[in-house]
Amino acid sequence: MTIFEALREDHEKQRSLLTMLCETEGESKNRRDLYREARDELQRHAAAEERYFYVPLMQHELTQEKSRHSVAEHHEIDEFIEALDETDMSSPAWLMTAKKLKDRVFHHLEEEEHEVFQQAGKVLQDKDKIGLAADYRKMMASPGSN
Ligand SMILES: [Fe+2]
Ligand SMILES: [Fe+2]
Repeated sequence: MTIFEALREDHEKQRSLLTMLCETEGESKNRRDLYREARDELQRHAAAEERYFYVPLMQHELTQEKSRHSVAEHHEIDEFIEALDETDMSSPAWLMTAKKLKDRVFHHLEEEEHEVFQQAGKVLQDKDKIGLAADYRKMMASPGSN
């Protein structure tokens, strides 16, 4: 498995969690559980992706700008999560913010998959693509890694 396949697999997980989250109603157990799961997934993915994808990409001129842009988007995504943490889950404002988070994340994943991966494919060696996937997956599999 390459780092691209590993990231793509978790991107799909995020898409499905956020889609389900935006279909929940009020302060239900379903909403609480899905929110916790989505937040955990987003935060752990961003941390592991920065360490095992963007840090190595920043060593290359070609991928520096897009890497910085992506990391900045991780911070924007974090701000939506903070806003959700601070909003009453039963209010319409909560769902509105959740939908904004979903749109932001979908846009971010799209950019990563269609712009960053292309450039990264040119600068990473084949052995790095495999090695980074293993490191990334190891970090994602260890609980509380953040
Ligand atoms: Fe990302
Ligand atoms: Fe990602």
